[in-house]
Amino acid sequence: MKQHIYLASPHMSEEGYEQEYIKEAFDTNWIAPLGRNVTEFENEITAKLSAQKAVALSSGTAAIHMALKAAGVRQGDVVFCQSLTFSASANPIAYEKAVPVFIDSETDTWNMDPQALKRAFETYEKRGIKPKAVIVVHLYGICAKIREIREICDEYTVALIEDAAESLGTTCHGQSTGTFGDYGIISFNGNKIITSSGGGMLLVNTSDAQEKAAQVLSWATQAREPAPWYQHTQIGYNYRMSNVVAGIGRGQLRVLERRVEQKRAIFAYYKKHLGNLPGVSFMPMPEGTYCNCWLSVMQLDEECPLTPLDIMRALEEDDVESRPVWKPMHLQPVFADCDFVSLMPHLHIRDEQMGADSSISGQLFAHGICLPSDSKMTDEDLQRICEVVQGLWKRA
Ligand SMILES: Cc1ncc(COP(=O)(O)O)c(C=O)c1O
Repeated sequence: MKQHIYLASPHMSEEGYEQEYIKEAFDTNWIAPLGRNVTEFENEITAKLSAQKAVALSSGTAAIHMALKAAGVRQGDVVFCQSLTFSASANPIAYEKAVPVFIDSETDTWNMDPQALKRAFETYEKRGIKPKAVIVVHLYGICAKIREIREICDEYTVALIEDAAESLGTTCHGQSTGTFGDYGIISFNGNKIITSSGGGMLLVNTSDAQEKAAQVLSWATQAREPAPWYQHTQIGYNYRMSNVVAGIGRGQLRVLERRVEQKRAIFAYYKKHLGNLPGVSFMPMPEGTYCNCWLSVMQLDEECPLTPLDIMRALEEDDVESRPVWKPMHLQPVFADCDFVSLMPHLHIRDEQMGADSSISGQLFAHGICLPSDSKMTDEDLQRICEVVQGLWKRA
C-alpha cells in the first residue's frame, strides 16, 4: 500500500536528542513553563543566529504579538505588513486594534517589494500618518530584500519586525534571517523545518535588547509585579514556552543543518525532474542568500494548460498532500476593509474561483503550488510525486 506523503511533518532527530532533554525535564520535575531547557534553548538560538536576546514563547504568533507591543503599537496605529503571507503574520495587528496596511510582493524574492513599501511610506506621510512598525516575511524560506527594507525603515525611523517563522536556517550574506529587524520571530509549529510540537521564539536585536526582552518576558508571564502577592499594573499573557516543549526544540536545533540540506536536496530534485516541463518555473534563490527551502514551490505561467488546483487534485488522488501558494491578506474577506499598496496599476480580479487579483502577490497565489517538502521523504517518494506531475503534462 502506498504511504501518505505530507507537505511537511515533524522529523525528530535520528539520534533521539529530543528524548534526552525531555527525560531531563521529567527527572528534575521541571514540567512547567520555565526550567533549564527553556533557558538553554534561548541561549542556543541566540548563539546560533547571533541575535542579541531571545525569548521562548508558546507560538510564533505570540512572538509577533509581543514584537508589536514591544515596538509600541497601540490601538489605531498603522502597521505596514507583507500581504503574501500566512494570516498569523497579520492577526496580532488586529489583537492590538491597530490598522494593517498590506504591501505587495515583487517577483525577485516573492516577498515585500521595497519600492511598494517606499510608496506606502510616501502616501501615508502625505496624509500625516507614520506607521508604528513594518512586518516583512521570508516566505517559504526565501530571503526578502531585507537590507533594502531595513534601510527604508531606518530612513523613516520605524521599527522593523522580521517574520522568520518559515526561514530558520536562511541567511543573507551570511547573516541569519530574524536578526536584521529590531525584532525577529521564529515558529516551531509542527510543519516547520524544526519543531518543538508548537512554540515560537522572539529575537530582540535593538540597542536596548536587555530591557525589551525583560519587558516581553513579563508580559508573557501574566505581567506579575515583583511583590509577595499577585500584583499587576499591566495586562499580561500566558505566552511562555513549556520546559518539555523547549526540550524537543533543543534536540531539533542540533539537526537543523541536516534538515536544511535535506530540504535543499528536495528542491534540487524537483527542479531537475520538473523544471523542464513547459510553463513551469521554481521559486527564486536571490543572489547572496542561502535558502532553507522549507517548502519547494512551483509556478505555472499564463500559457500553462494546467492550474495549481489540477496538480493538487492529482496528487491528492495519489494520497499526496500539496497546497496552493498562501492567499494574500489583502484578498482575505477578514481584511477586506484594509488598504493595499501595490505598484501594479489598475488592480482587477483575474480568477473568480479563487478570488485572485492582478497584483504580484495575487498572481503568485493564482499560479503557485507548494509541492510536498517533507524531509522524511525518500527518493522513491520524490519519484512517485514527479511521475504524477509529469503524467498531467503528458495528458494535457
Ligand atoms: C509566515 C508565518 N508567520 C507566522 C506563523 C505563526 O507561527 P505559529 O504557528 O508558531 O504561531 C507561521 C506559521 O504557522 C507562518 O508560516
